[in-house]
Amino acid sequence: MTTEILKPTSDTILKAAGLIQKGCVVGMPTETVYGLAGDAFNEEALLSIFKTKSRPTFDPLIIHVAFETNQQALEELVRLELVDESSLTEVAKSHVNKLTATFWPGPLTLVLPKTKKVPDLATSGLPTVAVRMPSHPVAQSLIQAAGTPVAAPSANRFGKISPTCAEHVAEELGGLIPLILDGDSSEIGLESTIVAVHASGALTLLRPGKISLEEIKKVSGAEVQKGARVVPANAPQEAPGMLASHYAPTKPLTMLPEKITELPLNFFENKNLPARLGLLTFDSKAKSKEALSKLTRKEVFCETLTETGNLEEAARNLFAKLRTLDHSEAEVLFTEPCPSSAGIGYAITDRLVRACTPRS
Ligand code: TXA
Ligand code: MG
Repeated sequence: MTTEILKPTSDTILKAAGLIQKGCVVGMPTETVYGLAGDAFNEEALLSIFKTKSRPTFDPLIIHVAFETNQQALEELVRLELVDESSLTEVAKSHVNKLTATFWPGPLTLVLPKTKKVPDLATSGLPTVAVRMPSHPVAQSLIQAAGTPVAAPSANRFGKISPTCAEHVAEELGGLIPLILDGDSSEIGLESTIVAVHASGALTLLRPGKISLEEIKKVSGAEVQKGARVVPANAPQEAPGMLASHYAPTKPLTMLPEKITELPLNFFENKNLPARLGLLTFDSKAKSKEALSKLTRKEVFCETLTETGNLEEAARNLFAKLRTLDHSEAEVLFTEPCPSSAGIGYAITDRLVRACTPRS
């Protein structure tokens, strides 16, 4: 199959929507990362999503919605027959209303009780469904034109680096899907924050993202537990999100204990390094490159996530720069640790740790 990459116009969006209505899957830009979109209520489309990504069916999907107003999001989710609100307490409903009124459309996914209409395949047999309303105008137009909620995991092969532009989707899934809508580079660059709203009203942060734990607490007025990503009962022991290696480049990636300019002079002694090294820094590219060359006397390929210490910029660049280093001549890769673990720094650290090669 040839994969068309098309700029979004009303015609190309209608074309993509028509493919979704036929049960095909297409590349969809969102503000977080690009998604592989298919009709959430069509089992053939869901199967095709899992197959195209080589994703195991025990890893549940996020369902994307678009509607005019975010003020009555819960009502809309019920009307769309995605969410069963009957088991939600008033506290839980109030959390959903506050969170959606503040953060939708945008990079927040909520995990809520599902209806029978949502195929078990979409939720890996879980009694809950993950839903989000993306803010990217092309995603919104596409979902509205398709006239159905759209399941969309990140448009990468399973376990690989998430795509933040149309070319990355083509690199990952070219030849496997008919069409990618090119909605420019994703503004945020990290997948959405995922929060489970339990029937009782308790909140659990399942995946960190741009919207931080602190913001969720402030808006909901509730405590938020940090939780591991859910492993469905029928999953093998090692389930995705729990897998040590996720978002992974093909070359070995190791996190340094300190920024490169602060490492002791003997840090790389007896480390048996190859001739060409890659480095991901949160600082000046020139300075960091020089520091690693000095410490190792090797050829260094360096990419910076931000020259100015701006972590939102670092998040936006993270997956693209990892990809650049993966394609470079470097044989092994190093990354500096994220200089902050607060706010979006926490989400960046989460992705970097998962991208690193597990130590055996
Ligand atoms: O930003 C995003 O969320 C992107 C864009 C495309 O919207 N999508 C995305 O999807 O990151 P994906 O498939 O890469 O991540 C889905 C994750 C699952 O791995 C799981 O951790 C969580 O969402 N998830 C989905 N349904 C769940 C459920 N019912 N309970 C708990 N976690 C769930
Ligand atoms: Mg993903």
